[in-house]
Amino acid sequence: MIENKFLPKAYTHAISGSSVGYESPSNIALIKYWGKYGNQLPKNPSISFTLNTCKTQTRVSFQKLEKSKKGSFDFEIYLDGEPKPGFEPKIEQFFHRIEDYVPFISEYKFKIATSNSFPHSSGIASSASGMSALALCLMEMEKQLQPNMSVDHFNEKASFLARLGSGSACRSLTGPLVVWGEHEEFRGSSNLYGVKFSHELHPVFEDYQDTILMVDKGEKQVSSTVGHNLMNNHPFAPARFDQAYMHMTDIVPILKSGDLDAFMHLVEREALTLHAMMMTSSPYFILMKPNTLQVIEKIWNFRRETGAPVSFTLDAGANVHVLYPAAESEKVLDFIKNELVKYCQNGQYICDNVGNGARKL
Ligand code: PMV
Repeated sequence: MIENKFLPKAYTHAISGSSVGYESPSNIALIKYWGKYGNQLPKNPSISFTLNTCKTQTRVSFQKLEKSKKGSFDFEIYLDGEPKPGFEPKIEQFFHRIEDYVPFISEYKFKIATSNSFPHSSGIASSASGMSALALCLMEMEKQLQPNMSVDHFNEKASFLARLGSGSACRSLTGPLVVWGEHEEFRGSSNLYGVKFSHELHPVFEDYQDTILMVDKGEKQVSSTVGHNLMNNHPFAPARFDQAYMHMTDIVPILKSGDLDAFMHLVEREALTLHAMMMTSSPYFILMKPNTLQVIEKIWNFRRETGAPVSFTLDAGANVHVLYPAAESEKVLDFIKNELVKYCQNGQYICDNVGNGARKL
């Protein structure tokens, strides 16, 4: 389906060559997107914290080609200065998906130079930060071709393009929280792009902490794409999509009041439901590892014994995101160092916190 709103108007300016750069963070969903249809459209709405430390920096250099052909793309990609031909198929597929909306991409030769702030193959997905940074670079280029573009259009279309690269990437452009998917509680929400959470937010969430424990740094055995597709014909899928929709309603007063008990209950239930969907698909699969469960149990014990508002969430992998208010940092980091680091591969973890989204370089 072509989304007419994002088809470009005739370009008013010409550019022969230059470079553009953006830095964009990762995000962690509180209410999870799992299941899609059509062209990367979500079966249920989702909401995420934008992160701050885990991010990708991307610089795109471009040069106008003498001869170009629709559907044919000329690009090379570098990670930390090294050529990365392994990334090419994903970018090629992304370019095909977005070409109708940014038709100039077949007319230039691109050099895409990217680097991540988090360790390579740490098990942290770089698709959200990487695809959003690249989408922003392409929009920056389009803005040079059509300088009278409005800021709102720029932001919406950048998120729209990022979504076509990797669904959850559309939630990385702004912060501190982003909603993706149509929902009656969120005016302006859309299946096509993410929008900034615009309800009242309790200050405790503005600098909420997310310490990511690297339980398993290996490649996932089941990709998100395969996992999303297994929600088609999943016997529990309709109930899950309804539940996520209701959770989006439930989270609004929680985020306003700062009710941390309700927050922790909702977020952990979401994480476990995501994994329950994986464990009950056909074929079924398990992405958690024994250490994931050890960590969860330790968090629950710590919470019971100390009353500290520490909770967890999971993405589509074995790593655990430990979530807590900034005021609890000292206590929780001690707990992590003393009791959880032993479950992390090579003792690795990353301290992150809620951030405000992407930035032009
Ligand atoms: O953006 P994708 O296709 O990699 O899917 C991400 C899915 C989850 O991380 C599991 C949930 C989410 O909403 O981010």
